[in-house]
Amino acid sequence: MSAFWLTATLVSAEPSGQPGSALGAAKAAAVCQKCHGLTGDSVSPTFPRLNGQQADYLSAQLKAFRGHQRDDTRARTYMWIVARDLDDKTIAELGKHYASQKPTPAQAGGALAADGEKIYLNGDLARGIMPCQQCHGKIGDGNAVFPRVAGQHAAYLRMVMGAFRSGLRKSDVMGPLTKNLTDREIEALSSYLAND
Ligand code: HEC
Ligand code: HEC
Repeated sequence: MSAFWLTATLVSAEPSGQPGSALGAAKAAAVCQKCHGLTGDSVSPTFPRLNGQQADYLSAQLKAFRGHQRDDTRARTYMWIVARDLDDKTIAELGKHYASQKPTPAQAGGALAADGEKIYLNGDLARGIMPCQQCHGKIGDGNAVFPRVAGQHAAYLRMVMGAFRSGLRKSDVMGPLTKNLTDREIEALSSYLAND
């Protein structure tokens, strides 16, 4: 990522440079690829992309599925059973594997992308909306437990922001932050960040 990033693009498609994992790759091929794709670039727009996602975030989410702290309907339906038998070591290796895969760049071409960019960069503090870039990074690539959001599927982004807003997916950070986002703003943020 360059420090003199001046344009509105969110492109960061270079390999992450993080070390991969043979054990993680084998497990991903055996279990996860059906839904998330072999490299994490899932085909279905409601199955999240994992390629280039932050390793710490991936591990934290897998543990939250296993411990049932992430308990929205889709987490229960799809990920609880998958995470049930994963031990901490396998979780860490899966995190490394997906983090080392080349991320999908954001397309940033949606109709409302310019509106989304404004909220992403500046927030709207009067309504309790902090600038997203503060935690997710200027180009949306995330950091440690702050997930990469750029290049994700639009349908997943919309869904998950709605789930934070309604409280279905619990988050001390994202819950209050999305409370005052309108449907249109969620749509705008998705069209700014996504690649579909
Ligand atoms: C049957 C389909 C299916 C399989 C198999 C599956 N997943 Fe998932 N996964 C999903 C769905 C659907 C979600 C989104 C859940 C939600 O909306 O809360 C998800 C979410 C996740 C997330 C959270 C992503 C995010 O951005 O928050 C991680 C991490 C994850 N899966 C990892 C894995 C790993 C690792 C495996 C293999 C060990 C795996 N999944 C196998 C369907 C699947
Ligand atoms: C203070 C830090 C912070 C700010 C500001 C913030 N986020 Fe987040 N965001 C998080 C954390 C932490 C998570 C992981 C969920 C959790 O564990 O609470 C997250 C999760 C998400 C996810 C789910 C990603 C996934 O793969 O499931 C999306 C989408 C998201 N944030 C979008 C946004 C948008 C859009 C904004 C601006 C309106 C924003 N965030 C502002 C910290 C932040």
